[in-house]
Amino acid sequence: MSGPTFEEACALTAGAAMWSTLAVPEAGIPSFTMSDGPLGIASGKVDERDIALLSPCSTLLGATWDRDLNRRIGALVGSEAVARGVDAVLAPNLNLARSPLAGRAFEYFSEDPVLTGVLGAEWVLGLQATGTGSVAKHLVCNDSETARDEVDVRLDERTLREVYLLPFQYAVEAGCVGLLAAYNKVNGAWCSEQGHVLTDVVKREWGFDGLIMSDWFGTHSSEGTINAGLDLEMPGPARFMGEKLAAAVSAGAVDPARIEDAASRVASVARRVTADKAPPMPAAEAEALLVEAAAAGFTLLRNEGQMLPLAPGSVKRLAVIGPNAWAPCFQGGTFAKISISPDAPTPVEALRRTYGTSCEILFEPGVDPQPNLPNMSVAPAFDIGDGCGRGMTLEYFAAPGCTGDVLSRETRDTNSLVWFVGVHEQARFGEPGSVRASGRYTATRGGTHVLHLGSTGAARILVDGEEVLRAGGEIPASDVMGVLKRGDSDCIGIDLAEGQEVTIAIEFSWTGGRVQGLWYGLRGPGSAEEMLQAAVDAARGADAVFLIVGETSDSSVESKDRPDTLLPAEQLRLIDAVTAANPRTAVIVNVGHAFDSSWDHKAAALLSVWYPGEGFARALADVLSGAREPGGRLPVTIAADEADYPAFALQPAADGTLTYSKGVLPGYRGLLAAGRKARHPFGSGMGYARFAWSDADVEDGVPQLTVTNLSDRAGSDVVQVYRDAPESALVGFVRVELAAGESRRVAVPLEPRALQRWSDESQGWQPVAERLSLRLARHCEDEGLCVELEIAALA
Ligand code: BGC
Repeated sequence: MSGPTFEEACALTAGAAMWSTLAVPEAGIPSFTMSDGPLGIASGKVDERDIALLSPCSTLLGATWDRDLNRRIGALVGSEAVARGVDAVLAPNLNLARSPLAGRAFEYFSEDPVLTGVLGAEWVLGLQATGTGSVAKHLVCNDSETARDEVDVRLDERTLREVYLLPFQYAVEAGCVGLLAAYNKVNGAWCSEQGHVLTDVVKREWGFDGLIMSDWFGTHSSEGTINAGLDLEMPGPARFMGEKLAAAVSAGAVDPARIEDAASRVASVARRVTADKAPPMPAAEAEALLVEAAAAGFTLLRNEGQMLPLAPGSVKRLAVIGPNAWAPCFQGGTFAKISISPDAPTPVEALRRTYGTSCEILFEPGVDPQPNLPNMSVAPAFDIGDGCGRGMTLEYFAAPGCTGDVLSRETRDTNSLVWFVGVHEQARFGEPGSVRASGRYTATRGGTHVLHLGSTGAARILVDGEEVLRAGGEIPASDVMGVLKRGDSDCIGIDLAEGQEVTIAIEFSWTGGRVQGLWYGLRGPGSAEEMLQAAVDAARGADAVFLIVGETSDSSVESKDRPDTLLPAEQLRLIDAVTAANPRTAVIVNVGHAFDSSWDHKAAALLSVWYPGEGFARALADVLSGAREPGGRLPVTIAADEADYPAFALQPAADGTLTYSKGVLPGYRGLLAAGRKARHPFGSGMGYARFAWSDADVEDGVPQLTVTNLSDRAGSDVVQVYRDAPESALVGFVRVELAAGESRRVAVPLEPRALQRWSDESQGWQPVAERLSLRLARHCEDEGLCVELEIAALA
């Protein structure tokens, strides 16, 4: 079979559609399909009813420090891809949590490049073992969201190589088929046109033979992009590349050999990822793995008086308090959000199952569990014969204003609707149209009810046919993510009597745009003081309290960073009041990034559960009751004060630059260099089992030590190895599982790259020293056990 013609080769450099590439059957080149990740298979779906498995967030996976588990989670996502006909996944996200404010911090494994790189590579290997391709993202320095489309990150070459590119180098060494170039600029050039990174480093030095694609709509020119080394413009159809490159070649601005190279990379990835696939993971295995993984990343940071584990039967009354006990935050709110099974249990349900037979459970949310967008619990306005008794009836119209013939009807039981390009037959965005959502609401309590409304186009709410609120606005065509900033909604109060039934209709019109969204809610009467008092009363009357606080699923979004690391003020008030009422309180924090924990001395126990995916509730009940260990160690620093984070504010300077001024000292490295103690240092955390370490030395260039489990239960420990010169850095780690009383000699593999530094003078890598002191430690501030390493002997 002959290769593609020149025109076909040009065409191959742009996608065919939103999630697919072009096929050239005459040349034996198939199209391949992609989906967003990393927490599961997120796209290619029609709407929110298209359910997929949701894995724990990458920060939780980072907290496991467990190579094998990360590989198995990669395999689970790969298996989901296979089952859904997806050939490649846009994951893992290998950017770094350099600031706790980063909107997508939960998608990052860690603030440390070695931990990120090692675990990210395992995830890649697991995913690709299923025959699915991994497209690691976002190359490079897309470590925050503020002005992400135009920010120009400035950093020196050493920092670029040793810190921010390092995780991608691991992924390339693991054989990822693709890399996704970030939206931002690095040192003055768009990442999609960053020739030094794409071509000099990644393709030439690292020998990457896969494919580099743009982030979605992240291209800015034709020849600048292809010449810099980008191979594929996504999504399709072409904006700058594809067949548009033919003219640039004719004009002599692009070497035809570059087009051939790009097309052959697209073709070989397409052939590879559409070839043999592994059989899907059995459902029961996947379900068990999601629970195991969640628990393995839960990080126990405080456990006074061994409050945890709390064995069922050891208490008579248990208070389960907090908004996240009822409305857990399973995941972040990015474009890659997964629709999870409505049957996924909530923490309070799982705790009732585990403890409810042996004790009385008192549950109080304490604060509003849906502070941004409350549910609107309605019955459909029309019976359309689909058997749905809950949700809104949606009616689609061909023109704005909900006038003319109804094109079709459906029932949707959600308060947050998103439509992607062309996926709904009646909602072809790019063309004007409208939808009316209507349902019947019955007030269970008399008083003021607050209606919420937000949308990406013009919208209004009608109650019994009367307009009560107008809201929404066009999103700029470039702001694909604007639709995701749900929670920004307008409100209006209406008075309803107890038992009163009203018909609520929402009309939404659009004129264009790539993605559209509509979201609405209704908050019934009830005061914050009543909720708080009920929680305090429950805490006072209980033998122990599990207080579950944290974020909502719209707290972490793309294109937006956070203003601070604090829990919401009303939750801090709840923590104060509940711990004062009952000091035997374990606070469980359901947040996807480093958070301020300056209040934690008031609680007996502190457990960080990150965004744990759909295994959350069962894993939590298992860990609190002692059926499983909390396995996590911090993959990010929790500083004593926000001012201590080496990188914090993320607003670019007036000239659009964001300078990585702390260089090779992000996260804990910067705190150690500045002599600042963290509130909870990087690497810290504990299980229930206790371990002793002894007899550290180095054999054949590998640090070793004896680890003994001193307790009467099986458990796991994480041995971390740090160097302290020329600056402190993690250079190796291993997780070890030991049976009760077991003692074992453990070798800790070192990461060769972490023993080298980039030299601007020689433009190459050099050993950091000839001889190095290493600390085998439990966290970055731990003195640990010291050994000496001859680096020269390793060569
Ligand atoms: C995000 C990527 C994502 C892509 C496709 C972009 O806006 O930055 O992480 O993979 O959209 O959904």
